[in-house]
Amino acid sequence: PTQRFGVVTLFPEMFEPFLNQGVFGRAVRNGIIQVDIFNPRDYTTDKHRTVDDRPYGGGPGMLMMVQPLTDAISDAKIALGENSLVVYLTPQGKTLNQTAVQSFTQLPNIILVAGRYEGIDERVINALVDQEWSIGDYVLSGGELPAMVLMDSVSRLLPDVLGHSQSAVEDSFTNGLLDCPHYTRPDVLNGEAVPSVLLSGNHEKIRQWRLTKALERTLERRPDLLNYLALTEEQQKILSQ
Ligand code: ADE
Repeated sequence: PTQRFGVVTLFPEMFEPFLNQGVFGRAVRNGIIQVDIFNPRDYTTDKHRTVDDRPYGGGPGMLMMVQPLTDAISDAKIALGENSLVVYLTPQGKTLNQTAVQSFTQLPNIILVAGRYEGIDERVINALVDQEWSIGDYVLSGGELPAMVLMDSVSRLLPDVLGHSQSAVEDSFTNGLLDCPHYTRPDVLNGEAVPSVLLSGNHEKIRQWRLTKALERTLERRPDLLNYLALTEEQQKILSQ
């Protein structure tokens, strides 16, 4: 496979619909992407198959029990290779963005650790985790959805995953800007006509219109994105008009 993901999770069933649907499902079936799941519960040794443990210092909530979690991550590293990047999904991590997603496409073996309960022991992070990533400033009940978000965003950039390979090149954020508006049939909807330039057949005019709309939208909705962007001369010219 081009890209191999290991997922350490107490809820493997959550991944099943995702792994089998749409472009990701097709990439898995075509062998472009391989996903292996490691469930800490399979590494328990007691009769109740315990996977949680109490936090030192007390307080509400539980943590993931160290031994089953550690053994699951270690087994994932044996399976995917000791050079794998181990990522822990947590609100305490760096916020994921398209630049980070692009850099993950260069790493063929990524192990995603999905936390549950109040999280994991800090020493497990220190010993086994390479990077901590968040998918945004809100709290989810586990790292499974964030792990799927990361796999989805990375997979669609891999060669041969998207049917139309240009769509990943042209979409929102690839040039650091928001996307332009899109239109399909009918040519008038709710009294609103499709912008006539899109019916003109003039590809250069269409490209300029799309770039202008993308810049206008970014300026209006996400001016913060323009701060650390190296705009082309053409983009600067449009923005100054
Ligand atoms: N786990 C819980 N919330 C999360 C978030 N926002 N990002 C990544 N992992 C999480």
